[in-house]
Amino acid sequence: MTTLLEASSDVLFAGLTPQPPDVVLSLIKLFRDDPRPNKIDVGVGVYRDAQGRTPVFQAMKAAERRLLEIQETKAYLGPEGDFGFLERIQPIVFGDGAAASDLFSVQTPGGTGALRLAAELAQAGRPGARIWLGAPSWPIHSQIFAEAGLQIATFRQFDQASQTLCFDEMIGALRQASPGDVVLLHACCHNPSGADPDVGQWRELAGVIAGRGLVPLLDIAYQGLGDGLEPDAAGLRIVMEAVDNAMVAFSCDKNFGLYRERTGALFVRARRHHEAARTNVLKIARCAWSMPPDHGAAAVRVILEDPALTGLWREELDAQRRRLQEVREGLADADPRFEPFRNQRGLFSLLPIAPAQVDAMRRDHGVYMTGNGRINIAGLTAETIPAFAAAYAACVPN
Ligand code: LMR
Repeated sequence: MTTLLEASSDVLFAGLTPQPPDVVLSLIKLFRDDPRPNKIDVGVGVYRDAQGRTPVFQAMKAAERRLLEIQETKAYLGPEGDFGFLERIQPIVFGDGAAASDLFSVQTPGGTGALRLAAELAQAGRPGARIWLGAPSWPIHSQIFAEAGLQIATFRQFDQASQTLCFDEMIGALRQASPGDVVLLHACCHNPSGADPDVGQWRELAGVIAGRGLVPLLDIAYQGLGDGLEPDAAGLRIVMEAVDNAMVAFSCDKNFGLYRERTGALFVRARRHHEAARTNVLKIARCAWSMPPDHGAAAVRVILEDPALTGLWREELDAQRRRLQEVREGLADADPRFEPFRNQRGLFSLLPIAPAQVDAMRRDHGVYMTGNGRINIAGLTAETIPAFAAAYAACVPN
């Protein structure tokens, strides 16, 4: 006999539908499970050296050793995290001119935490606010913004076939945007295309953003891996000099090699609503993670407090940047279709390739990249470029 008492707790989860695997992170396992010895991993965006390793920076090792000696407590720091870390990161990103004025900051679990916090702040300020996003972008951007309740609008930013930045389309879309709309911009080393606006284009973007009353959300996750720490921040600083309101998501994953330590920061400028924005950010962070994980930020602070360690860190970062450029040159020399990669920057470029050809490269040649044809430049070496180019030539006929 059926009774109402048969009501099941399943009702809580019954409405869920299974989600597809993460388009980036699922590659880690696929690659690991492939037994072929000559497989090539150009998937997830982590730096690799010429031996295929993702080393801990020497400067970081030294800072961690020092931290072990000097740290006296692990008591709570508060929702902002480590103030010393935030104070020392700020000039690296914003310099010491007008771009750095009127900011507040909080430490976050990686750049992703900062993006989510920025999205939640926008949602708290204006529920259902619109965010403009270039296509293609890091696939998780749109997921984060949608999860937070923002409305996503897109414009074409990069043409994969011709390998060109669609700057006129970007500007055209932003001219149609409404005051208070957010616009997500990759500050440098665009993920996935490696194609950034030049300084003149950044000025034009800044003019339209300020003129239309838009709020830039600048994602800076690869500072130092393009042309160097200062040049990589040039576009961001141009925009910051032009606007009253802005959010900046900074990540230490790549430029301090801290990937799994989850170390980042959110910087916000809300000139006429500073205190309301600041306290809302703290409340959102408190409800999401209470306090950010400490270790990575504390180690970064130790590096940046010590000129010798800072110098060593900069040297190591520079060496990574030079290696990326060497691989770009090697690729461009290996196949004329890779020529545009020479002038692109950062960890990624986007192959002119169709999804079925991406599958064929994986299946027939053990080359792992994301489904849209994004390759991690650091996944290649002088030794593997020929095999990679041969696999591409076999799967993508000229
Ligand atoms: C990437 O794009 O591969 C990296 O940013 C790693 C990630 O979290 O997706």
